[in-house]
Amino acid sequence: MRVFEIKEEFGIDNLTLTERPRPSVGHGQIVMKVRAVSLNYRDLLVVKGLYNPKLPFPFIPLSDGAGDVIAVGDNVSRVKVGDRVAGIFMQTWLAGELTEAKAKSALGAGKRGMLAEYVVLDEDGVVNIPEHLSYEEAATLPCAAVTAWHAVIETGLKPGESVLALGTGGVSIFALQFAMLAGARVIITSGNDEKLARVKQLGAADGINYRVVSDWDKRVRELTGGTGVDLVVEVGGAGTLPQSLRSVRIGGRISLIGVLTGSTGEVNPLSMVVKKICVQGIFVGSREMFESMNRAVSLHRLRPVVDRIFPFEEAGEALRYMESGRHLGKICIKIA
Ligand SMILES: NC(=O)c1ccc[n+]([C@@H]2O[C@H](COP(=O)([O-])OP(=O)(O)OC[C@H]3O[C@@H](n4cnc5c(N)ncnc54)[C@H](OP(=O)(O)O)[C@@H]3O)[C@@H](O)[C@H]2O)c1
Repeated sequence: MRVFEIKEEFGIDNLTLTERPRPSVGHGQIVMKVRAVSLNYRDLLVVKGLYNPKLPFPFIPLSDGAGDVIAVGDNVSRVKVGDRVAGIFMQTWLAGELTEAKAKSALGAGKRGMLAEYVVLDEDGVVNIPEHLSYEEAATLPCAAVTAWHAVIETGLKPGESVLALGTGGVSIFALQFAMLAGARVIITSGNDEKLARVKQLGAADGINYRVVSDWDKRVRELTGGTGVDLVVEVGGAGTLPQSLRSVRIGGRISLIGVLTGSTGEVNPLSMVVKKICVQGIFVGSREMFESMNRAVSLHRLRPVVDRIFPFEEAGEALRYMESGRHLGKICIKIA
């Protein structure tokens, strides 16, 4: 089978199409014929050696894929041959609290990535995908959608509340979609006016261009009658957190997710204290959250926003496209 590997040196240019033996099933395992994968910002960091510079070579990158179960091992009962499934991001976080061991079971930052024609996974590590979704759409769910679901819905968003989402990448667009499902009002920032026009078509109440309006936190407070939003979906990291803290109301919540502007910087903790802000770190989510989300996605026939689909052979170009930041929503790769 064909796989993409980083063999001995990090870098998008070092992503190499290689032949490897097709995996076979063991006890409790399934083989998935991967039909589509989607990219996350993390995959870019992994491939460039910025996520974990000590990753052992060679490795197959990418965490998110969807496809068909083509073989099952002994004692497999959760899925059967022919089922359409997606892998879950952390293979052993099935329910309950995250633990160190579960966090280490994430796909795509070691050998078991999805950028391959076939993968073998434990039966526990997959979920059935909503019927109305294409493989590409379903491949967008394991990381970005579950993260947004966790950040928005599992933290208790209520109808009528207001949400600020930063940027128009994969996580933020899902956050917009889930917040709207919950009956909340969404303000979204972007560095691009065309993207802001698009998110308004998707249902955002207001858009702010953070390149033009550098004090966007002030604008967020103006748009919320001076009080600030109930929830910030914070994907920016150190560079945006001080403004996110100023954008949220007293007693509001910040779901802390991303590192787009870096992971170190100065943050004054006093505002969290005096505004009684609840800052919660979000690390994707469990299989249980994935399955709850899928029920909502199916019920509302929600469609992930797929910006562009690349052919398998152009995986490197897909990563370059993500690096350029031109996308809105998700970037996928089709694996026929
Ligand atoms: N904790 C977790 O479990 C988890 C899970 C998934 C992702 N993440 C993290 O969340 C972040 C987003 O991931 P993603 O996959 O959604 O990325 P993505 O699809 O590549 O989205 C990136 C987008 O963010 C926007 N952006 C960039 N710099 C910004 C800034 N200074 N202020 C506001 N927006 C900015 C840009 O949108 P515009 O072009 O519209 O400006 C850009 O297109 C990454 O740091 C990723 O590592 C964490």
